[in-house]
Amino acid sequence: MEKRSVTVAAVDAEALEREAQGAIAAASTRAALDDARVRYLGRKSELKQALRAVRDRETGMALNAVRERLESAFDTREAELERAELRRLDESLDVTLPGTRPQRGRLHPLTQIIREIEDIFLGLGYEVVDSREVETVWHNFDALNQPLTHPTRSHRDTFYVDDQTLLRTHTSTGQIRVMESRKPPIYIATLGRTYRRDTPSPRSTPNFHQVEALAVDRNITLADLKGTLLHFFRALFGGDREVRMRTSFFPFTEPSVEFDVTCFLCGGKGCVFCKHTGWFEMGGAGVVDPAVFENVGYDPDEWSGFAWGLGIDRIAAQRHGIPDIRMFWENDLRVLRQF
Ligand code: DAH
Repeated sequence: MEKRSVTVAAVDAEALEREAQGAIAAASTRAALDDARVRYLGRKSELKQALRAVRDRETGMALNAVRERLESAFDTREAELERAELRRLDESLDVTLPGTRPQRGRLHPLTQIIREIEDIFLGLGYEVVDSREVETVWHNFDALNQPLTHPTRSHRDTFYVDDQTLLRTHTSTGQIRVMESRKPPIYIATLGRTYRRDTPSPRSTPNFHQVEALAVDRNITLADLKGTLLHFFRALFGGDREVRMRTSFFPFTEPSVEFDVTCFLCGGKGCVFCKHTGWFEMGGAGVVDPAVFENVGYDPDEWSGFAWGLGIDRIAAQRHGIPDIRMFWENDLRVLRQF
């Protein structure tokens, strides 16, 4: 009984092979060939079922030979069809036609300059630290020795969340945060968003960016500050920049200075861009006031330091010749695509 059924399968196999070879030759696409492969060699195909039912060696060998011949016929036909497809592609594809350019994004000009500034500080061995934007009155004003009567404390100048909480008006808050949490020596920079209730204009926006640097060590002087500023601006704007300091006042530094850099356009000779002064105002700086050290628990007789801060939006505007810093916030692609 068993023997007969095997014989039947072997007989079927011959007809099956002829039929399959016919289907292979007739397949004119790879999809049609795939269908034929499933039909004749798939798991549920007659041949596979016959192979599973085989009980004697001879029939098994015969069926396996059919399977191998069909497999190689399928492979050969597949390669043929593939070559034909490539030939057709070749004829229809003009590789000299221009392609479609992928749309590439780019970094916002402020992000670019922020990253450059961070790199300069890292190159100087400074640590770049993050500081919070929602701050306490203590960190924004009190600890920085700001007099209680100073107008920037008013609700008209500063965004308050509640009586003791506000949106930081400057990155100098980062100085206090860092000094409260570690011991000198300290060489840090902190960059980020700052907030003031200013009416938007070409030179100011209620939300802007600052960078703040702080160095605390033994025997730090104003000369160290000047050298650092000179290095910073030459790295950012080119090796022929000069820096000058003018005396000024900030409650958290003594002495205090404001610093200027020679004009990017005329190099200091004087032009319309710098209003014929040859200089651009950059920011404020000074030697850390002993009262600030006392507020964070440092001994002012042992430690000395300098700090400086400047607005990033303005220097980015000057660098790119942008007449109105509000353009940085408008997200007009015609502007942003130029950077
Ligand atoms: N915080 C000041 C401002 O927003 C800038 C500044 C001045 C920062 C003097 C300093 C400094 O670190 O020493 O205008």
